[in-house]
Amino acid sequence: MKTIDELLAEGVTGKRVFVRADLNVPLSGTTITDDGRIRAVQPTVEKLAAAGARVIVASHLGRPKGAPDPAFSLAPAAARLGELIGADVAFATDTVGESARATVAALTDGKVAVIENLRFNPGETSKDDAERGAFADQLAELAHVYVGDGFGAVHRKHASVFDLPARLPHAAGDLIATEVGVLKKLTEDVARPYAVVLGGSKVSDKLGVIDHLLERADRILIGGGMAYTFLKAQGHEVGNSLLQEDQIPAVLEYLKRAEEKGVEFVLPVDVVVSEQFPDLKTKAPSRHTTVPADAIPAGVMGLDNGPETNKLYASKLADAVTVFWNGPMGVFEHPDYAEGTRAVAQALVDSEGFSVVGGGDSAAAVRILGFDENAFGHISTGGGASLEYLEGKTLPGLAALED
Ligand code: 3PG
Repeated sequence: MKTIDELLAEGVTGKRVFVRADLNVPLSGTTITDDGRIRAVQPTVEKLAAAGARVIVASHLGRPKGAPDPAFSLAPAAARLGELIGADVAFATDTVGESARATVAALTDGKVAVIENLRFNPGETSKDDAERGAFADQLAELAHVYVGDGFGAVHRKHASVFDLPARLPHAAGDLIATEVGVLKKLTEDVARPYAVVLGGSKVSDKLGVIDHLLERADRILIGGGMAYTFLKAQGHEVGNSLLQEDQIPAVLEYLKRAEEKGVEFVLPVDVVVSEQFPDLKTKAPSRHTTVPADAIPAGVMGLDNGPETNKLYASKLADAVTVFWNGPMGVFEHPDYAEGTRAVAQALVDSEGFSVVGGGDSAAAVRILGFDENAFGHISTGGGASLEYLEGKTLPGLAALED
């Protein structure tokens, strides 16, 4: 992979450089609630601009259906990027149309523009190689050089991630280089004990990574909505908690393999339950109680790890030398159900080991809960991407930057 510094050494002054970023930030209306992904690509954008490149930043945001949808506009992200770099950032209101072409043509050396959400064009995510290729051809006309720095999207075989770098000289941005360097530490010669914390709502999203980690990790701690499928598989009732019945055979198989391999599988011993899902908008207090994880009454749902579980998980993380965490332990967006997630984040902060927070929700959670980002070894910008990397899969957006 060519690095950005190698690209700069070749000279980028006056060249239009297409930076595929991941500016897929959480929004409340048009307010960005966590700008971590924008800050993560800032060094690459600044380096290119300082070297005199004409920088075109492109990204997806959310999952619009291949057509313009104002709810998914990148305009707020473009404005935030401008604030961060302390310079005007032009904004094109389309991807490859008149506005994009005019905006790009008006760029002068060292200036930055953002084009509108790539997923407003159906070619971006198309499964049809020709349709994706046609969109990549149009994107290629905007620029002379491609820089891949949208780590959060490298697991997507999308036009701007996979097809476009094949059409332009390309390099990897600093964010991708850092992310890949960290993930290598979690897959090659891992320092032990190696503990993994997995949460989030669905077991089915984590099957591949659990399968892979059973061969590598020393401890796997489970929390969040997916824990209830494990508890059910162990024969416990889970009331109205999230449950993926169809995953029970897979879960049983994992529990058996973990035992055979001496991998410690740790499940909640107590959970916080409520009769109703809390109101995340008003965050109004919600009636809740703590019950043993093997005695969840009918009519309630588990929404967070309980205090005994928090202590147990902290003790399992205290002596870990390497920790990877993906997925919140509960409905952390509501203060009544944030303690499990906070406790895991605190355990990582307290640990002297190398701790990696993997992407999406968990990365947003540590920032929203007020933790200092620098207290962690690394906060990844890619949830799905880091999981697929840990599964050992070939990621299209990394493969495309290889040659
Ligand atoms: C993410 O949020 O994980 C990345 O931005 C990828 O988004 P996607 O899952 O919609 O492809």
